[in-house]
Amino acid sequence: MTVDDVQRIFVCQGFFCSARGSYRLLAEFQARFAGDETVRVEPYYCFNGCSHGPNVVFYPARVWYEGVRSDEVSAIAAHAATGEPAGRECGRRVPAIVKETGFEALDRKCGPGSDARRTPGPSWPGFPSDR
Ligand code: FES
Repeated sequence: MTVDDVQRIFVCQGFFCSARGSYRLLAEFQARFAGDETVRVEPYYCFNGCSHGPNVVFYPARVWYEGVRSDEVSAIAAHAATGEPAGRECGRRVPAIVKETGFEALDRKCGPGSDARRTPGPSWPGFPSDR
């Protein structure tokens, strides 16, 4: 398995998403994929789609889930297994420029040619891993 085979799920832990329960969402997604080497669940610090959070972004699939609730974790997690986005609207309320900027940031951090993509650890350096 290479780094390109891994589906990464970034769960925003910025202020606004956290205030809406994204800490719990991160824990739920991490528990869901514990031991699964094909999926990596990671905290992320703010996609700038704060008004629409909690935001959860699949990369490299480039699928954006906004306003994620705990009761949607199973359906959204199934996306990692099937490759098909969950049966809900994805990123409709998030302005295109925000999504584009967020995906570009992920390309720089995790895309082909990025050194960071080969470095294990949280995508938000300094983020406590025990949260
Ligand atoms: S706090 Fe989550 S997108 Fe900004």
